Amino acid sequence: MNYEIRRMTIEDIPVVMELEKEFFSEPWSVNMFLEEIINHESFVLVLEKELIGYICGWEFSNEYRITNLCISKKYHRQGWAEKLVRFIIAEIEKKNIYDFFLEVRKSNLPAIKLYEKLKFIQVGIRKLYYENPEEDAVIMKYKS
Ligand SMILES: CC(C)(COP(=O)(O)OP(=O)(O)OC[C@H]1O[C@@H](n2cnc3c(N)ncnc32)[C@H](O)[C@@H]1OP(=O)(O)O)[C@@H](O)C(=O)NCCC(=O)NCCS
Repeated sequence: MNYEIRRMTIEDIPVVMELEKEFFSEPWSVNMFLEEIINHESFVLVLEKELIGYICGWEFSNEYRITNLCISKKYHRQGWAEKLVRFIIAEIEKKNIYDFFLEVRKSNLPAIKLYEKLKFIQVGIRKLYYENPEEDAVIMKYKS
């Protein structure tokens, strides 16, 4: 199947927002995505002209923090998230940044399993980091 990973643009935001609202109880706002596009890195995965996922992140000192990741439900378990995370790691390594971290809800086993498959390890807990519902975050790190 033909796919491309490219930078998110303002025109992508309506589709991105649909996915965001479907999957997250505290979805990012349009302004948050605008901020990502202007000041940080965010990429979309387009499969046969359909936007099926996105990933966002920030440089943070000499580390990179993955802040958002989502794949459309009908494309789950087909390796797309893995492709996106591997892509962003390769992109960021070009800037000589090799330390990656993220937070994920403790109950989000699909995401935790994904990151573990990619050799992220659990390094800590942020107590009650999330709201709606309140939940701890697991902090995961990867060093390439
Ligand atoms: C988490 C998420 C991004 C995974 O996307 P995906 O494209 O389905 O993941 P992949 O197909 O690339 O899976 C890669 C690996 O992750 C793990 N994984 C993914 N989904 C899983 C699930 N439901 N149960 C267990 N392991 C899972 C597996 O190890 C899988 O490898 P395998 O299929 O060879 O066993 C997707 O479920 C999603 O968008 N969820 C909603 C948003 C979200 O929670 N984002 C993460 C915020 S930190």
